[in-house]
Amino acid sequence: MLKFNLIAAASQNRGIGKNNTLPWKLKAEMNYFSKMTETTKSNSKKNVVIMGRRTWDSIPSKYQPLPNRINFILSKSKLDLEQFHDVCGFTSWNDIYDKLNDNKFKEEYEQIWIIGGSSIYKHALESKYFYRLYLTEIKKEFDCDTFFPTFSNVKEVSDPVVPQGIHEENGIEYEFKVYQNALFEE
Ligand SMILES: NC(=O)c1ccc[n+]([C@@H]2O[C@H](COP(=O)([O-])OP(=O)(O)OC[C@H]3O[C@@H](n4cnc5c(N)ncnc54)[C@H](OP(=O)(O)O)[C@@H]3O)[C@@H](O)[C@H]2O)c1
Repeated sequence: MLKFNLIAAASQNRGIGKNNTLPWKLKAEMNYFSKMTETTKSNSKKNVVIMGRRTWDSIPSKYQPLPNRINFILSKSKLDLEQFHDVCGFTSWNDIYDKLNDNKFKEEYEQIWIIGGSSIYKHALESKYFYRLYLTEIKKEFDCDTFFPTFSNVKEVSDPVVPQGIHEENGIEYEFKVYQNALFEE
């Protein structure tokens, strides 16, 4: 069965974005995002990152696509992504599921990371494939226009690769938390 890992950074008021960008500048937090979503056990495989079209647009063009990952972008329109390597556009979740379940494609990827925004996280949290939420809890309120959805029926777990404790950058404190879908036993 497919397993979705979600990764997000949210402020105390659950904000994740403002004006299609991040409301904060946290370099080490961004590095954590890259490390978590890029790392694979097998050298010959990559992870898939699934995002909405607005999140794709929010990535500065020089960093598009997110390197060393297979970028999936969801949009109701057919996007012109021909120029990019390792980027696939989809117009529905069903098309994404078909691709993720394709036997040949399964040999190419390891983990599936859901990287936002709001409705993408919501769909993933409500799906039977939701496994873990890697949530950076930023210990401050920010003025935001995009928010992380509410969630329940999870238990906090530890992951040895996740740094513990409170971190601070630019005077902003945050903590890396991991929540697991309570329906998953392991
Ligand atoms: N803090 C964090 O961890 C984090 C993570 C990610 C993003 N962000 C921030 O969040 C904001 C962007 O997120 P957002 O919630 O506004 O947008 P988003 O989820 O990235 O993108 C929304 C778009 O995705 C497409 N879409 C969504 N569901 C679809 C479906 N079922 N079928 C087809 N297309 C679908 C639509 O694209 P079309 O309009 O093209 O049809 C929709 O307008 C930015 O501010 C970004 O910086 C923060």
